[in-house]
Amino acid sequence: MNQDITKKIKQLAKEKNAIILAHNYEPPEIQDIADLCGDSLELSIKASQTNADIIVFCGVRFMAETAAILSPDKTILLPNPDAGCPMADMVSPEDLKAKIALNPSIPVVTYVNSTAAVKALTTICCTSANVVRVAASIEQNEMLMVPDRNLAAYAASKTDKLIHKWNGYCPYHDALTPAQVEKQRQAHPDALFMAHPECRMDVLKMADRVASTSGMLRIAKESEKTSFIVGTEVGLLYPLKKANPDKTFYPASRAMQCVDMKKITLADVVASLENNTGQVRVPEEIRVPALASVERMIRL
Ligand code: 13P
Ligand code: SF4
Repeated sequence: MNQDITKKIKQLAKEKNAIILAHNYEPPEIQDIADLCGDSLELSIKASQTNADIIVFCGVRFMAETAAILSPDKTILLPNPDAGCPMADMVSPEDLKAKIALNPSIPVVTYVNSTAAVKALTTICCTSANVVRVAASIEQNEMLMVPDRNLAAYAASKTDKLIHKWNGYCPYHDALTPAQVEKQRQAHPDALFMAHPECRMDVLKMADRVASTSGMLRIAKESEKTSFIVGTEVGLLYPLKKANPDKTFYPASRAMQCVDMKKITLADVVASLENNTGQVRVPEEIRVPALASVERMIRL
């Protein structure tokens, strides 16, 4: 059954000159049919460089919107339009405008996990892979970072600059506690503990390595260690195991399951390719200023 549907997807993608991009948290069967899997930064870069006419984005809405910001002449499809990111919805353009009005000259660094309308108010975007580099690139000694308070705290721990934090967070990463990590460490004392910078600072302080999802994939491949405790969404365990069949991966907590990242099915991908459903568009008055902040990040 999956074989038939996979064949159909490949055929449709070829006929329509479509590329399929998938985030590292997507379900295994979606990652397996993708032309490229990656973290937010890799997927944004790929979306800016492809010659395909259609980008099928298997991830969440902000990722498809970023592709639409970068490629206005391409058709961007999000096969399940309900796939969102609760953290991205924790900052509205109205609230951000009000905050900026209190200090109009402050640079705003916005995590890509945000809406296009928020990116449009932004100096430069960042991802979990480049947040420290982006913060260092800001000329001023002070900045506002939205929407993730944990990512902002992590960046602040790596620079002397003053970083004002927005009070947003990822409900899954923020819920990971030091006690849960400690329990896994005691159960697997030889394992290397990797944590995503969306985790809280008390968890990040326990980490052997802090990295984006693709950063974790690289660490696991290069490390001499044979076992790892994975402090991020459990979907990453699939590509980790696929690339390292002889190594062992333990989730820091099985509760780290992003509902939105599991919404896209193979049937959704077929329907989307057949009928161009789930098209994501960004109005020009938002896209143009948002593009400046995304391009600044990609150029860095
Ligand atoms: P990465 O960019 O590290 O893949 O993270 C995206 C994300 O949504 C993490 O929750
Ligand atoms: Fe958003 Fe968290 Fe899901 Fe990533 S894991 S898409 S930050 S809710």
